[in-house]
Amino acid sequence: MSIFFHESTKTFHLSNGQISYVMKVLPNGALGQLYFGQALRDRESFDHLLEMCCRPMSACVFEGNGQFSLEHCRQEYPAYGSSDFRHPAVEIRQPDGSRITDFIYQSYSIAPGKPALEGLPATYCEADSEAETLTVRLKDELLGVTLDLSYTLFAGQPVLARSARLENGGGLDLHLTAAMSLSLDLPDMDYEFVHFSGAWGRERWMKARRLEQGIQSVESARGHSSHNHNPFIMLRRPGTGEDSGEVIGFSLVYSGNFLAQVEADAWEVSRVTLGINPFGFDWKLAPGEAFQTPEAVMVYSNQGMGAMSRAFHTLYRTRLARGQWRDQARPILLNNWEATYFDFTEDKLVSIAEAAHSDGVELFVLDDGWFGARSNDFAGLGDWIANPDRLPGGITRLAQRIEDLGMKFGLWFEPEMVNKDSSLYRSHPDWILQTPGRRASPGRNQFVLDFSRPEIVDHIYGMMAKILSEAKISYVKWDMNRSISEAYSASLPPDRQGEVCHRYILGVYALYERLTVNFPRVLFESCASGGGRFDPGILYYAPQGWASDDSDAVERLKIQYGSSFCYPVSSMGAHVSAVPNHQANRRTPLSTRGNVACFGAFGYELDLTKLSLEEREEVRRQIAFVKEYREVLQFGDFYRLLSPFDGNFTAWMAVSPDKRTALVGLYKVLNEVNGPFRRLKLRGLNPEFCYTVDGADTHFGDELMCAGLVTTDSVITDQTAGKGFSFDFDSHIFVLKA
Ligand code: DGJ
Repeated sequence: MSIFFHESTKTFHLSNGQISYVMKVLPNGALGQLYFGQALRDRESFDHLLEMCCRPMSACVFEGNGQFSLEHCRQEYPAYGSSDFRHPAVEIRQPDGSRITDFIYQSYSIAPGKPALEGLPATYCEADSEAETLTVRLKDELLGVTLDLSYTLFAGQPVLARSARLENGGGLDLHLTAAMSLSLDLPDMDYEFVHFSGAWGRERWMKARRLEQGIQSVESARGHSSHNHNPFIMLRRPGTGEDSGEVIGFSLVYSGNFLAQVEADAWEVSRVTLGINPFGFDWKLAPGEAFQTPEAVMVYSNQGMGAMSRAFHTLYRTRLARGQWRDQARPILLNNWEATYFDFTEDKLVSIAEAAHSDGVELFVLDDGWFGARSNDFAGLGDWIANPDRLPGGITRLAQRIEDLGMKFGLWFEPEMVNKDSSLYRSHPDWILQTPGRRASPGRNQFVLDFSRPEIVDHIYGMMAKILSEAKISYVKWDMNRSISEAYSASLPPDRQGEVCHRYILGVYALYERLTVNFPRVLFESCASGGGRFDPGILYYAPQGWASDDSDAVERLKIQYGSSFCYPVSSMGAHVSAVPNHQANRRTPLSTRGNVACFGAFGYELDLTKLSLEEREEVRRQIAFVKEYREVLQFGDFYRLLSPFDGNFTAWMAVSPDKRTALVGLYKVLNEVNGPFRRLKLRGLNPEFCYTVDGADTHFGDELMCAGLVTTDSVITDQTAGKGFSFDFDSHIFVLKA
């Protein structure tokens, strides 16, 4: 792994045998982008990649040089208005009303490892040898503002992590109105723009369209990364598949308002911009102050989307997620939400837990409704003290009763919210985000605490820490059930109100940091009405997240498949729930609910005491299966085989690192009559190994990957061996052992 700087051509070349990233100081001192892609041999000059020419209507940098216009240069961190007319990476509003900046190269440094980003989640190294970081310093002389662009190259991985830091070393009050984490100008626009969009209950559905001249983007202005869009996009060449073709994944390690945008200009250059959404953002940078952007991560693959995803999975599972749970197989949990909603007593909970324990569940999670006056969703949020009517012995006694059964106990919180009907609100009505003189809009009957204020975060920490210290709590589900409106903080002056949304997220991160540091043994699961904040920022603190409130097995195929493009299986909370399903009103077989959920952080979301004896037997078999294979399922290499977005069948598989064990999930939505024969081409196996399939037939890896696994002709051919499909929503997990 090397980062080269060639003084004679002022060229930076970051290369690790997998990828190369080449930049050059342009004639005016700005930083130009020359190449990002497969690793190149190093050379003194890549100047031939710097294309310049004289074009009508262009504004030029130098008088007498019609060739050099920033509009026609590919740049690293562009600004608008000084011969470039595209959307910028940085914009600074100045006291005289100008927004023009001119960041000129000053110096660079290269250091082993990767420095942390203060107050922000980011990927990290455990040893300096794992990565190298280049920091290029630029400066706007007139304003006295320095800009540090950081690039971390990870050894042996097709990954580059970027961020920017601006510091006001001058004497003027400045306002940052755009400070993106990443800007990348690619030399053509022959790409498909792929994003993962949806809404509550159908998060991260894959959408793809050809790039066109103009701007295409996804964003959030809801105060959280959102169900609607995810801070992850791909640019892929037409024809790119799972194991061939070129694709770049762009991911933002951030949980608040974001923008992921591609601007394809008239000359077919594609400018990718990723970072905090400039819409509504206005950060005052007073003299002496600095601003650090969140981190953006780029992964390049010329071996298709599968290799790109596996690079993200490895990085995010092992060098973004942290803590003791990072590398540990996740406990099988039962969550009482869909089992009881708000209707429970201590004894009822214990009886559900007893049944769960007898079937092999390891962790019982008490969801919403245990605190304050919370008997419905109109009251109680903010009062993190057990409701004595429901839990006379408090959380401490309930947790002990669960522990006495031989299980672990977990608890739900929604730390960022308050109901007006709560002691917290009655004592501090001024603690919510609200705009003076305007009404505050409720969402799920609740309001958002102003987490940009450290004293409010402190107060919530105090309540949560008390419970976590007093009771035996091994797991916390951190929920967040509404988007942020009237984002105005009583503690900030008028010229800093554009900072509220980012400061809010910094407050969320500060609370997560404090809780995870002080309660290191607790497993945190993030949630925001399901997958409303399922992003890499939260993954840094909580190694798993409730992927969606939609627990229907068929719906989950799309949600988990879409999520898998960026996020590892271990990060996706996935539960077996009751039928008819509470969201989709659909009846799917218990086997299929288990077969979908086991490709995730597995659990149950139903009252097991209401199942028949046969169903309980099946639950026991599912639990035994997950216990046997969860390391492979959660930490193995993940391969997508058939897309739920393309047809009636979905298939995916997980392969152990030594390739000796593989689990193939095959799912059908609607049954067919007199359908064709089918072979499922597997991936990631060792071609030389001979595998047993479900303990019976043996096949070599090459045969399974090239000829495929013969599954069915859709008329039942071999139902007893589980290979035949016989009904709607049927599925099977094939177990392959070398
Ligand atoms: C939304 C979550 O996504 C659900 O799982 C559940 O925890 C409810 N909130 C509780 O109010």
